[in-house]
Amino acid sequence: MPSLSACLTLAIGLLPATMAQICTPEFGTQGYAYDVSSPSVLDQIVAEGCTTINGSIVITSNFTGPFYLPNVRNITDGLRWRYDTRIGPVVPTPTSIDLPDLEFIGDDLAIYSLPTLANVSMPNLKTAVHGFNMYFVRDVNLRSLETVGYLYILGNLSSLRLDSLRYVSDKLWICNKDECDQEKSPVSAFDFSLPSLETVGTVDLEGSLSSLEVSNLRNVSEFSLVSGGGPALNLDFPRLTVVSGAQLDGDIASLSMPGVKNMTGILNVRTYVPLDINLPFQEAEGIILYGNISSVQFPNLTSIPQDLFSVDSTLPVDCDALEKTLSQATNMTITHIRCSSSKESHSGLSVGAKAAIGVVVGVVGLVIIAGILFLLKRRRRREHLKMESSVHLNDSLPPTYNEVRNDPARLPEYSPPALGR
Ligand SMILES: *[C@@H]1O[C@H](CO)[C@@H](O)[C@H](O)[C@H]1NC(C)=O
Ligand SMILES: *[C@@H]1O[C@H](CO)[C@@H](O)[C@H](O)[C@H]1NC(C)=O
Ligand SMILES: *[C@@H]1O[C@H](CO)[C@@H](O)[C@H](O)[C@H]1NC(C)=O
Ligand SMILES: *[C@@H]1O[C@H](CO)[C@@H](O)[C@H](O)[C@H]1NC(C)=O
Ligand SMILES: *[C@@H]1O[C@H](CO)[C@@H](O)[C@H](O)[C@H]1NC(C)=O
Ligand SMILES: *[C@@H]1O[C@H](CO)[C@@H](O)[C@H](O)[C@H]1NC(C)=O
Ligand SMILES: *[C@@H]1O[C@H](CO)[C@@H](O)[C@H](O)[C@H]1NC(C)=O
Ligand SMILES: *[C@@H]1O[C@H](CO)[C@@H](O)[C@H](O)[C@H]1NC(C)=O
Ligand SMILES: *[C@@H]1O[C@H](CO)[C@@H](O)[C@H](O)[C@H]1NC(C)=O
Ligand SMILES: *[C@@H]1O[C@H](CO)[C@@H](O)[C@H](O)[C@H]1NC(C)=O
Repeated sequence: MPSLSACLTLAIGLLPATMAQICTPEFGTQGYAYDVSSPSVLDQIVAEGCTTINGSIVITSNFTGPFYLPNVRNITDGLRWRYDTRIGPVVPTPTSIDLPDLEFIGDDLAIYSLPTLANVSMPNLKTAVHGFNMYFVRDVNLRSLETVGYLYILGNLSSLRLDSLRYVSDKLWICNKDECDQEKSPVSAFDFSLPSLETVGTVDLEGSLSSLEVSNLRNVSEFSLVSGGGPALNLDFPRLTVVSGAQLDGDIASLSMPGVKNMTGILNVRTYVPLDINLPFQEAEGIILYGNISSVQFPNLTSIPQDLFSVDSTLPVDCDALEKTLSQATNMTITHIRCSSSKESHSGLSVGAKAAIGVVVGVVGLVIIAGILFLLKRRRRREHLKMESSVHLNDSLPPTYNEVRNDPARLPEYSPPALGR
């Protein structure tokens, strides 16, 4: 057990017990950190009356069972796990992490690759300076969290509370599959609800969605959604104005972005159920629509800078009308507008249709490129998982659970401070 003698119990006896108690752990290989090898270490921290941990908390190999630490409101550094060099490469097995009073955490909550960790509850946490990564979680309560650097929540999600989340500076990644593994399929469709979210770097939502709530989202750089196996989705972005690219893939029944005038990236949609596209963009860097697109209208579009406009539908779409309207509105030659519809009905070939046939190779090429982009994105996911997390961890990359099992040397290692007993 680490000694808690370094706890600075300020003005003992003079201040009421409710006053802040700043506890500074001993200095070790992980800096000022409490080495938590069993729940009894947590009991000691509680007994000291700590409200601020001036340092970090490290969960080590021997830890098993629930991690419950009440009264602590501030952890100035992070909370992470490491294997204890004295025990060997053994992953700790916490079943839950419950910090009921925590309001602030000054660094990462690196609690990835812990398959036993089902529940994470920090209902009063408002600010996490860096971010979280958890790859196997089921129930997550972060209902007061307002601002965070990055947030990766992956696992067989059955409940997720992010009621107050307003700002994510980097990446928000939610996926209802363990480790977001492409080989696995989600247990069930899940409601992805982000009711307060206003500004976010990139959004990556994956798995099986039953609904999506982003009614306050205003500003996002890249928005990506890949959903399969759930009910048809209605995607509504009522307040969105700033977006630099969106990739939407799934059973999309409706799509609305009434406030987006300038899509400063590519809109890439692939739907498996009939979808009417009617978006008010005035400008877009590119538009690629694929699958069961039932109609296409961009009544306000005046400019497509990169001439990247492609519709490839399995349903009858009136390509002639679309090409005519667009070429008039944007002053582009018709060959730059690619539209093909497998069930298109013509009374004789119009100029537009001929042009469409003329660019069939182009369309096929474009669609293939779009398809490859999707695939590449999926393939890269694994690597991505490691890379992105590593940005915030200055030592070893977070390995996946299987990698850990196959090669225990990949575990993050920790030499605890000399025991103070
Ligand atoms: C907090 O820890 C730092 C070392 O990281 C130490 O210098 C400082 O005195 C501690 N503050 C308090 C209030 O204990
Ligand atoms: C870890 O657990 C083993 C056996 O359960 C025990 O012998 C050892 O002392 C524990 N180590 C620590 C650091 O708690
Ligand atoms: C937590 O402690 C850090 C370091 O002392 C401080 O900068 C931060 O403001 C504190 N946060 C809260 C919410 O008390
Ligand atoms: C996780 O939370 C759920 C719902 O609150 C509860 O039913 C379950 O027992 C918890 N599991 C663990 C391992 O704490
Ligand atoms: C998540 O669900 C899948 C499919 O039911 C299951 O194989 C896997 O073990 C579950 N994960 C955890 C951490 O329980
Ligand atoms: C959108 O968010 C980015 C990053 O937070 C910020 O730099 C930019 O100014 C925001 N744009 C608008 C129009 O609010
Ligand atoms: C739309 O966005 C592009 C790229 O950021 C920019 O060059 C263009 O000026 C914008 N158009 C308007 C009308 O703001
Ligand atoms: C479009 O829907 C039909 C059934 O109406 C389905 O057979 C086809 O696979 C769908 N196309 C795509 C690309 O999902
Ligand atoms: C699109 O144009 C229509 C009129 O054609 C106009 O009523 C509407 O406000 C415009 N929408 C946007 C977002 O500019
Ligand atoms: C389209 O081009 C014509 C002449 O080439 C020009 O007079 C007109 O202003 C252009 N319209 C737009 C919307 O750029």
